[in-house]
Amino acid sequence: MVVKPSPGVVLADQSACPPAFQLQDVTLRVGRKTVLDNVSYSLSAHGALLLRGPNGAGKSTLMKALVGLLQPAQGSVRVLGRTPDQARGHVGYMVQKAEAGAPMLPALSHVAATIGGQFWGLAWPGRRKRAALALLGLTGAQSMAGVATGYLSGGEMQRVALASALSGAPRLLLLDEPLAALDPQARHEILSLLKRLREKLGFALVMTAHESLQASSLGPDTREAWLCGGRLSSEPLGEGG
Ligand SMILES: Nc1ncnc2c1ncn2[C@@H]1O[C@H](COP(=O)(O)OP(=O)(O)OP(=O)(O)O)[C@@H](O)[C@H]1O
Ligand SMILES: [Mg+2]
Repeated sequence: MVVKPSPGVVLADQSACPPAFQLQDVTLRVGRKTVLDNVSYSLSAHGALLLRGPNGAGKSTLMKALVGLLQPAQGSVRVLGRTPDQARGHVGYMVQKAEAGAPMLPALSHVAATIGGQFWGLAWPGRRKRAALALLGLTGAQSMAGVATGYLSGGEMQRVALASALSGAPRLLLLDEPLAALDPQARHEILSLLKRLREKLGFALVMTAHESLQASSLGPDTREAWLCGGRLSSEPLGEGG
């Protein structure tokens, strides 16, 4: 495959390929609730995982553990062969209900702020601006660059949030319910975008979703796992909710 990155977009380093993440006998607790109970699981360097489970099962909590926001009560969490803290610079994370924290600022400022610095509302060097525009271009949101995010629809905002999550050329992309509240057309567009971006940029993907999806929607090497009652079990795609 010939890969031609857009200007300002750096491809993920494909040379070293430890698993995207690896859980070894991991127990995760929040308050009194155990959301993972002695679980071992591994996702390959370029694989994709569709993470399923009912409300409150612990999907978002697991993502927080993968970015080092939550320490396991027991066991080991490795991300890209390192601790989550060490790997954080190579992990893109789109939180559940990604919304504009500063709705008056244009989309370009939101994306530029995620490129290795804080430039909220301030002038930024041209290179950073070009990189932010390239990221918005990747997700089909370049025309929204100058629009205050408070004006954007849910689907448009998802594209801007995805552009932010892609800054820093992540080798692992975590998307927490990126399809929530999207109409069928927007959902289809975001899924085909993710599939294309996986092919183009080579990152591993973990995505939570309640919607019914086909494995092929996210491209090859996609697995599904169901999180419920502290257990993480694999199920054929199409049977999860
Ligand atoms: N800081 C906390 N203290 C206590 N309980 C918490 C804390 N954070 C999360 N929880 C609880 O942990 C459980 C798992 O929450 P989590 O947000 O991970 O679920 P989820 O699977 O992402 O659900 P949803 O599908 O609704 O997004 C929930 O019961 C939640 O109330
Ligand atoms: Mg959640």
